[in-house]
Amino acid sequence: MELFEAINNRRSIRKYRSDPVDDKKIETILEAGRWAPSWANTQCWRFIVIRDPEIRAGLADTLFTIKTPDKEIPNPGAGAFSTAPVIIVVCAEIGKSGAKHGSGDGSTEYLTDKGDWFMFDTALAVQNMVLAAHALGLGTVIIGAFDAVQAAKVLGVPDGYRVVILFPLGVPDQEGKAPPRKELSEITVRDRWSK
Ligand SMILES: Cc1cc2nc3c(=O)[nH]c(=O)nc-3n(C[C@H](O)[C@H](O)[C@H](O)COP(=O)(O)O)c2cc1C
Repeated sequence: MELFEAINNRRSIRKYRSDPVDDKKIETILEAGRWAPSWANTQCWRFIVIRDPEIRAGLADTLFTIKTPDKEIPNPGAGAFSTAPVIIVVCAEIGKSGAKHGSGDGSTEYLTDKGDWFMFDTALAVQNMVLAAHALGLGTVIIGAFDAVQAAKVLGVPDGYRVVILFPLGVPDQEGKAPPRKELSEITVRDRWSK
């Protein structure tokens, strides 16, 4: 699939067919994540591949409900946890990305005003992976609204690592619908922000 086609046509998929996803495809997707750029090539990301239904259910229990001014609804991605055959969890080693010495010993000093760049690095890996999945004909939905501390317990993630994001993965059982995007003119400044 052509790159721009993949970027423009990837959609969040929240309902999947029960068709299995073979290990070769999972490996291709993980490889796409592995080749993402990262701060000083620190590669703080770690990936967990979940097929076990019990662990999948345990993760589903960590999802936050979404509160709107007048009601509380389940996480829109909740259904994906009962239908997707695979869930990929992306974790990060803390105290490495953006760190002055990469010591990670609790006294970490960071080089920039952004602190730890783990969210940024893992996001790059995730974007590579969801595009790769799309190019392979598979759907994904990035899930951020969940209790990451609880998820770390379910997954046995060791100290020093944080669970950042989850994404269910499988053969789509729905057409993704594109939510509108802001116009370029609304989000782009030329040369200097202020008038
Ligand atoms: C950081 C992040 C967290 C997200 N968390 C959730 C989530 O918890 N539940 C969900 O259903 N979708 C979640 N999404 C998916 C977004 O709602 C979706 O990407 C956005 O509406 C644009 O739609 P598209 O992916 O189809 O282009 C998340 C996306 C991102 C990037």
